[in-house]
Amino acid sequence: MTALQHVKLGTYYVVHLPEPDDFDFWREQARALVQCAVPPDRVAWVEPGGSGDLFAHGERRAPAPPVDIRPVRANRRFLSLAKNAILHSDAERFALLYRLLWRLQTIPRIMEDKADPDLRRIEELDKNVRRDSHKMHAFVRFRLVESASVSEGPELGEHYVAWFEPEHHILRANAGFFMRRFSNMRWSILTPQGSLHWDTETMSEGPPAQRRDAPGGDSMEDLWRSYYASIFNPARLKVGAMLKEMPKKYWKNMPEAALIPELVAGAQKRESTMVEKGTLEFEERPETLEAIDKAIHACRKCPIGLLDSHAVMGEGPRDAAFMIVGEQPGDQEDQQGRPFVGPAGQLLDVHLEKVGIDRRVAYVTNTVKHFKYVQRGKRRLHQNPGAKEIDTCRWWIESERAIVQPKLVLAMGASAARGILGKTVSISKVRSTPIPLEDGSELWVTAHPSYLLRLDGRAREEQERLFDADLAAVKVRLEELTQ
Ligand code: URA
Repeated sequence: MTALQHVKLGTYYVVHLPEPDDFDFWREQARALVQCAVPPDRVAWVEPGGSGDLFAHGERRAPAPPVDIRPVRANRRFLSLAKNAILHSDAERFALLYRLLWRLQTIPRIMEDKADPDLRRIEELDKNVRRDSHKMHAFVRFRLVESASVSEGPELGEHYVAWFEPEHHILRANAGFFMRRFSNMRWSILTPQGSLHWDTETMSEGPPAQRRDAPGGDSMEDLWRSYYASIFNPARLKVGAMLKEMPKKYWKNMPEAALIPELVAGAQKRESTMVEKGTLEFEERPETLEAIDKAIHACRKCPIGLLDSHAVMGEGPRDAAFMIVGEQPGDQEDQQGRPFVGPAGQLLDVHLEKVGIDRRVAYVTNTVKHFKYVQRGKRRLHQNPGAKEIDTCRWWIESERAIVQPKLVLAMGASAARGILGKTVSISKVRSTPIPLEDGSELWVTAHPSYLLRLDGRAREEQERLFDADLAAVKVRLEELTQ
């Protein structure tokens, strides 16, 4: 039986999509229609809530193609564009994609034809959808709606809710992004198209919501507002670029945006005050360790500085030839105001002693000055600092190095190495070999003691052996450098 014999000639097909973003369903139906040689002008695609009744007399599903029929031609580029374009809110998207798929069967080179109107329109839809997803990643703001009392147990925890109005059907497609980014948080994202709920283990979907279902302000909003005000640099203000990046329609859901008109209006005044006071963003390096200590306590250059934690300054001789750099203070360090006094510090002390290094000769510090954590009931759980946070904090470790002028810097862990080098390196590749630094000193990189603490058995033994070997090599080199 040929494809054409398989369908009734002149039949009109009306395909009802179960969901507006159901690419797999569209693909299955489109494939069957192409295989049965149903031309694009004989198919209507209707999404939920769409005007399907106009075509009440059509067949309601694509025909089943004969089993021996040729496979449908669609290259990777078509599929990747189609997957995204199908999320667009334009009701014509399914028909447009079907038309292009149909034409691809006889003109496979269309995908390379930049002037082809169907392809150009699909590329535009794809671009709009990407942009909408990008905005969602950037402008979703969670608000705290519920706090656990201790008796409720940690599983209830806090619940964060965000309201967002996407332009396209991007909610489900972006679930993975928010799940990965906020995996430890219980959250819901409410939109007029539907809602997502994550309980730290499973994702579920819910019905469309309204703006009023989402909460108003809370203490997180103050955090965002003061963070935004503190990073806002009037000297770099470009209103056009700012509006392009952060269109006004998203402002209503972003607590920090309430400040924008005020900050823009006051920008010139604030800039001249900064110039007068000599405080224009990080322009002068502190000249003493005391000045750094004071400045890091006031530092709000990244959101870590806004958490309820204290900055922890480095400690040790101010002319130490040896500097040990960790990642960031932990819970104990934050409480005691000293670096490496908790479990990782105790393990470090054991190994330093084992190879014969006296910790008191070293200046011990961290690349990030505040403890980054998430609150879980009564506990504060360590969170790795992000590359941006490390890079922002580099100013302080560089200032410490400029004052202490160590001959040898030992960076423990990837964050510390990035804090010194300004780029990410692989510990296993760079350990045991000195890296020359621009001020004539040298950097040695090793594992972080917290990493050792997370291992056990043979793996722990092996890593402790490598750690000792690195420390022993550092000891020998330090003796050479300080003779
Ligand atoms: N981990 C670090 O990186 N630094 C500390 O001070 C403590 C633990």
